[in-house]
Amino acid sequence: MRRKVIAGNWKMNMLPNEAIDFVNNLAPLVKNSENEVIICVPFTDLFYTLLTVQETNIHVGAQNMHWEEKGAYTGEVSAEMLKSINVEYVIIGHSERRQYFNETDETVNLKVKSALKHGLKPIICVGETLEQKEQGKTLEVITSQISRALQDLTLDDISNIIVAYEPIWAIGTGKTASSDDANESIKAIRNQIEKEFGTNDVTILYGGSVNAENAKELFTMSDIDGGLVGGASLNAEKFSKIVNFE
Ligand code: 13P
Repeated sequence: MRRKVIAGNWKMNMLPNEAIDFVNNLAPLVKNSENEVIICVPFTDLFYTLLTVQETNIHVGAQNMHWEEKGAYTGEVSAEMLKSINVEYVIIGHSERRQYFNETDETVNLKVKSALKHGLKPIICVGETLEQKEQGKTLEVITSQISRALQDLTLDDISNIIVAYEPIWAIGTGKTASSDDANESIKAIRNQIEKEFGTNDVTILYGGSVNAENAKELFTMSDIDGGLVGGASLNAEKFSKIVNFE
């Protein structure tokens, strides 16, 4: 059975002292969980968070990176830089980055390849807009996004990635996809990966208004391996209830 993964995405929230308090509060609440617990924090919190999670079962991720190794890219951070301070995961292609920072399937693919090359595990986001959903294009959009994000990867790489299906209309809106719809979309992503790489053994999360009330229904569906949680990951107690959803 695939292990459940619960990842928090803090987005542009939390100062270092808040990050440290969060980890100190969360650690005892999730210490018995068999699920993989990840928090993806702003760059300025990474170092403090990594120091504070030592001897806990909490893992740390970044929220973005550049695909180039180094050079004249003012304001950017490379995969090697993240790896050098022991960051394990990195979110790539979040819809907010696609929408506000012009990320495309092509740059997502470049970032995924660079992350894997440097031993980071990418959490790759895909998801349809409300308009695409209303036009009945959800499965077409997300299978194309995943196919392009994973271009040139090997079968080995697939065991080191996490995919997050995040319908854009469900992010921060309080509207979640129904568990059946989310499961169907995630199954379509899994089938696409199986078609291209010959394995369906890949961790795929649901994201979009996950909270302590709806986590269990979503995370116990056949194809949903856990969640990528935004707003509800900013409070340690609330987030722990999502981690301990059983
Ligand atoms: P919310 O949980 O706040 O809807 O955000 C989801 C998300 O974008 C996680 O990456």
